[in-house]
Formats: sequence, C-alpha cells, structure tokens
Amino acid sequence: MQAPATHQSKPYDPVASRVRGFGTTVFAEFTALANATGAVNLGQGFPNFPAPDFVKEAAQQAIAADLNQYARSAGQPRLVQALAQVYSPLFGRSLDPMQEIVVTVGATEGIFATIQALVEPGDEVILIEPFYDSYPAAVIMAGGRPVYVPLRGPAQARSAAEWTLDMTELAAAFSPRTKLLVLNTPLNPLGKVFERDELTQIAALVQAHNVTVLSDEVYEWMVYAPAEQVRIATLPGMWERTVTLGSAGKTYSVTGWKIGWAIAPANLSYAILMAHQWIPFAVSTPMQEAVATALEQSKARGYFDWLGSMYQAKRERLLAVLDEVGFTPIVPDGSYFIIFDTSRLDVPVPAGERRDVAICRWLTREVGVAAIPPSPFYSPAHQHLTDNLARFTFCKTDDMLDEAARRLQRFKHRS
Ligand SMILES: Cc1ncc(COP(=O)(O)O)c(C=O)c1O
Repeated sequence: MQAPATHQSKPYDPVASRVRGFGTTVFAEFTALANATGAVNLGQGFPNFPAPDFVKEAAQQAIAADLNQYARSAGQPRLVQALAQVYSPLFGRSLDPMQEIVVTVGATEGIFATIQALVEPGDEVILIEPFYDSYPAAVIMAGGRPVYVPLRGPAQARSAAEWTLDMTELAAAFSPRTKLLVLNTPLNPLGKVFERDELTQIAALVQAHNVTVLSDEVYEWMVYAPAEQVRIATLPGMWERTVTLGSAGKTYSVTGWKIGWAIAPANLSYAILMAHQWIPFAVSTPMQEAVATALEQSKARGYFDWLGSMYQAKRERLLAVLDEVGFTPIVPDGSYFIIFDTSRLDVPVPAGERRDVAICRWLTREVGVAAIPPSPFYSPAHQHLTDNLARFTFCKTDDMLDEAARRLQRFKHRS
C-alpha cells in the first residue's frame, strides 16, 4: 500500500524556540562527571548529610495521617500560618498568611511563576552577575529580555564583600522597558551578602524607575557574623514592590522535597498565584505539612542559629584547606559556597573551551575533587571574568570535606 500523500515541505522539528537554546545545566554535567570518576563532589550544592530528625518525623506523621489529596493552591493553611509566624517579625509587619504568601515547588517555581506573572514579552529584567542560572531561563521563557550588570571585584579580592555593583552602571541598565530586577542575597555562587547601604541604593533606583524586585533569599539562614541579612522588602517604600523567595530545601537540608514560598503584598501574591495555579496547581500536601511542623518548632529548638553555626564551622574548615593548598579563597559572608582563585594552576585549555570549565574538569578528573565553573553564572559577554575562578560547596559532611582536603593536599605535594 502506498503511503498517503502529505503536504509536509519542512523537516519534522517539534521543539519550540524558547527552549532550543538551552543545554543541560552545569550542575548535571559535573555531578555526572564526579560520579563517573569517583571524585568527591564539592560541585553541586546539595547536602549529603541526613535531614534533622524532627523534620523527617513530621513527614512520616503526615504520610501516616493520609494527607494524600490536593493541597490548597496557594499553600496549606497550616504551612502559610507557620510561615507568617516565622517571617512577620523578620519583615517588621503582620503578614497575612492567606493573601501574602504562596507556596511553590521549591524556590525554582517561585522564580518561574513570579516572572510569568509579571513580565510581558519584550520587557527587560535586570540580572546581577553572577546570577543563579534559572533566572535568565525563566526570563527567556516569558519572552522577556535579560539585561546583565556584573558585580566587580579587585583581582586580589579576599572577601565577597569586595565585589560590588557600580551604581552608575546599574543606573544605566534601566530603560522604559525595565519591569523587574532580580536580587539574590546571600548570592550563589559568590557568597556576597548585600549590605544595607547597597540595598538602599538599589531601592532608590527601582523606585525611581517604578520597577519590582524579585529577592531570592534561599540562603537567608546561612549568614556569617558580622554580616547580617537585610531584607530589601523591609526598606522604606519596598514592601509594595518586592517578592521575597525562601526554600525549605536549603533551610532543612531537604532539596529533594521541593517546597518553597513567595512572600509579597496581596496584589503581587495574587498575580503569582494566578500563574502558579496553571503550573503545578498545588504542592505536595504531606511535605507541606512536614515543613509546617518544622517551622512551628524551629525557633524553640534554636534550629536556625544551629544551622548557621554548623555551616560557619564547615566554611572555616574548607577555607583553611584552600589557603593551605594555595587556592586563594574569596571568603563568603553567606551561602554554602566558596569561590577560589585557580590562577596558579598550569592546565592546558582545549581550543574553544573556557578556562574555568577546563580547570574544573581537570580538578574533578585529576585531583578527584569536583568543582563548578562559574562562567555559566554570567552572560557570554562577561564570562571572561571567571577564567581564573572555580566554586566549591561546603554543604557536605566533615568526613567528605576531610577527604577532599586529603586529595587537594596530595595534589599540592605532587605539583
Ligand atoms: C540562588 C538560588 N535560588 C534558588 C534555588 C533553588 O531553590 P529550590 O531548591 O528551593 O528550588 C537555588 C538552588 O541551588 C539557588 O542557589
């Protein structure tokens, strides 16, 4: 039998242009390489230690209680109430749990839903470099245009605080099409915690240009004194125009649970909910109940302070190793990442490859410790800024950090 005639003149090409330019993430690539080579994975930022018992027990109880059906789309009442309890004092206002909080599938969906809710095709979104890699992807999928402004630091910077925004450069990035500015504090991958003075200057610019801020604060509990977490939503005139994101994944070392939240005034929360109801519709019911229990108990247990101290000790451990092996670290004030300087390494860079990518592959394969290259956190025009930099994470057991230290020391004695 003859095949029916078709009118196809074009080859079959089912993929939409909005995703065609995306590759697999740098995290997937380097975690796969670490697994294949048996390297200690200080690349991807997921804790390899158990979650706290009180959090796991809460999840077991929620499963046992048969909380199996769809959750409220904006978030389970118990969870949004627990969030309002924890965050009201931090925001200096009484948060309305039913109107000013939306529970999302991790902060990642918070980013996506907020951008879908606020950005029109052709709108510009200011992204500060280095940026978390889902920001430009979310902007592009909304039909928006990312506009990049890099943090700049002296070549010999020893601390993340030395990397600052040139406020004249930031001011020049605003245009009549600017709709949103994305802020990340503490900032992945640098560990910078924006200071009040810097946030005040950013706030003045966004108010002058009538722009909204998406403030990604998923590392809010990993801030190392004397640095302190200043929430841009608490600055004068900023509550009305800020969406603040948080993540249970980071806070309770359960990145696979994918529970996050957006806190924003009612009109912005409603817009986010309108996008969210057509993305996942609702978030896992028993996991929301577990996070609600965790939040209800965290203050009395001193959990947030414990988390910060636990990570501070790990930061010191990794900083000492990096100093000792001559990889000058840029000391982070927050997050669980450390950027360090690799310029002392003389490693061949294959043609067409970025130096930081080649160095991180080499560290993974030859030294047996996986790192993440920072260039994917930059737009192509600014990727050269990371040629001599790499990122380690310290959200790992002390045993794993010690094994990484042994491998780095062995390499130092070899070289
Ligand atoms: C800055 C930043 N925002 C958001 C996320 C994603 O958070 P979640 O795991 O809650 O989706 C991450 C995870 O690495 C991150 O580093």
